[in-house]
Amino acid sequence: MSASGREVVLGVGAGIAAYKACDVVRRLQDHGFLVTVVPTPSSLNFVGAATWEALSGREVATQVWENIPGVAHVRLAQEADFILIAPATADLISRLAQGRADDLLTNVVLASGAPIMVVPAMHPHMWTNPGTMENVQMLRSRGFTILDPDIGRLTGPDVGVGRFPDTARIIENFEGMVGTTADLLGRKILITAGGTREPIDAVRYIGNRSSGKQGFAIAQAAFARGADVELIAANCPDLEIEGVHITRVETTQEMQTVLEARFDLCDILVMCAAVADAKPAYVHEGKLSKEEYTSISLIKNPDLLAEMSSRRREGQVLVGFAAETQDHLESARAKMERKGVDILYVNDVTGGAIFGSDITSGTILTRSGGKMEVNDAAKDTLADVLLDHVLFQLG
Ligand code: CTP
Repeated sequence: MSASGREVVLGVGAGIAAYKACDVVRRLQDHGFLVTVVPTPSSLNFVGAATWEALSGREVATQVWENIPGVAHVRLAQEADFILIAPATADLISRLAQGRADDLLTNVVLASGAPIMVVPAMHPHMWTNPGTMENVQMLRSRGFTILDPDIGRLTGPDVGVGRFPDTARIIENFEGMVGTTADLLGRKILITAGGTREPIDAVRYIGNRSSGKQGFAIAQAAFARGADVELIAANCPDLEIEGVHITRVETTQEMQTVLEARFDLCDILVMCAAVADAKPAYVHEGKLSKEEYTSISLIKNPDLLAEMSSRRREGQVLVGFAAETQDHLESARAKMERKGVDILYVNDVTGGAIFGSDITSGTILTRSGGKMEVNDAAKDTLADVLLDHVLFQLG
């Protein structure tokens, strides 16, 4: 699973500014992008493949002749939501303008329909040369976003236009092209997903129908918005989300242990998991026979959300979920007060609606009395809407 809409191919041309592109990789990752670096072959004279592989955590190739069965140029082109080429040399700009396909990067550009931003860096005479200017013009007319280079000190003693811009300027312009901002950058979010299970004997358990889809959608959306995301997944499908740390748990007790260890460090807690309210007072070691399996005595589980709320520090935002079948708004408001949460999403689950579905309907309630209806929305959409409310609460 990847953070959809956040896959970036970073093309690196053979300019000395290639070393500054290492910082661009890091900052893109901070802003929730997943980066594959595609250097031109001669750019490896400045920064080697090992550096790009270590920074991106992904394999690096420069030619279509590597990994032939993987058809890298087509795969990368299909997976890329955006292409950023930084730095771009005069030669690379010229090859792009001619529509050439003489290395992996130019092949990917030709095979992709993704928006492309180019960050040129070169000597002022090369930049202002009519050949380069015409190529830049041509690329702009084809829809490429080309960032004007900065003016300043260049590699040699010269000063002029052609300097590789600061990473901050590149990221700001890139986010402008992409159309999102990393508004949760620097925030730590802890999310629970799925449903806890309480063993009865060696084979049976008390559980619930929560699929974990909503919690995973929130984790993915928060990561895409730049947050540092930790997910506690109770009995969820074995999916990974790149960039998100997932701890798998089974019982309420296990979830409590992880929550207690992590809660103080987070800025936001989203308790999306359906926590089993009770557990068998005694767990049989083996399997109960059907003669023995007649009644189970239960003991209450702790209310994890209420426990976290009681130890919250100023500035932490708590989001709860509620699944109700009757008088759902009244009981949800009361639950919100009782558990001390800032935002509560309440589902009407009469007849088992919602569980396992990709679509959700319900109401978002806020502590300040706010109410927003959600009708047949994708769980991904709800995730972003809830995070918008969280941001508002964070101020
Ligand atoms: N929750 C929790 N610990 C529990 C039960 C619930 O942290 N033992 C959290 C859930 O993760 C959810 C919220 O509390 O965010 C509301 O869950 P819900 O099951 O609707 O609430 P309950 O307290 O179990 O109330 P009810 O009596 O309606 O089941």
